[in-house]
Amino acid sequence: MKKILAFAGSNSSQSINYQLLNYTASLINEVEVKVLDIKKWDVPIYSLDMDPDQTPDLIASLIKQIQEHDGFIIASPEHNGGTPAFLKNILDWLSRRGEKVFSNKPVFMMSTSPGPGAGATNLKYLIHSLPYQGASIAATYTLPSFYDNFKEGTVQGDYLGQLKESIGEFVEALK
Ligand SMILES: Cc1cc2nc3c(=O)[nH]c(=O)nc-3n(C[C@H](O)[C@H](O)[C@H](O)COP(=O)(O)O)c2cc1C
Repeated sequence: MKKILAFAGSNSSQSINYQLLNYTASLINEVEVKVLDIKKWDVPIYSLDMDPDQTPDLIASLIKQIQEHDGFIIASPEHNGGTPAFLKNILDWLSRRGEKVFSNKPVFMMSTSPGPGAGATNLKYLIHSLPYQGASIAATYTLPSFYDNFKEGTVQGDYLGQLKESIGEFVEALK
């Protein structure tokens, strides 16, 4: 069975992107999904001074887990139209410890926010930039106005159909 690693780029204990990610994971049956909770990860800010020898244990463990999985789901919040520093730092570390860490494996990129924009500006940036790190973007999904469209633990209305469609595209790409 194919193995998927899923994480969100949020360090908020109440993260709505993790809520969306966990819900998405619950809809996937055909493959094994591991949701990695990185909310409490305390990773030092990357500096060239730490190259090449000083790699935080958390980054080393993430690289190992990425190598052991067949595909990835990454949910990202948006901060001021960009990638939250918390996630950007982790991606910068990964880029310095392996040129194509995602090894051309399928990646499902998603985002949500409380507002109507759904974090789509940042998601567009990540969809553009992550292929430089070897991500093969197989599916995307944005959920706007989280608190209106995610109720009682479920994505509402048409957004649920769109999510299932994106999951289908992602699972297909794993084959
Ligand atoms: C510093 C900061 C900047 C933010 N900028 C944006 C933004 O540009 N676009 C947006 O849709 N939401 C923005 N938000 C609201 C986030 O979408 C909201 O905090 C959301 O809950 C973040 O996702 P998370 O709960 O998974 O961490 C911002 C929040 C913070 C704290």
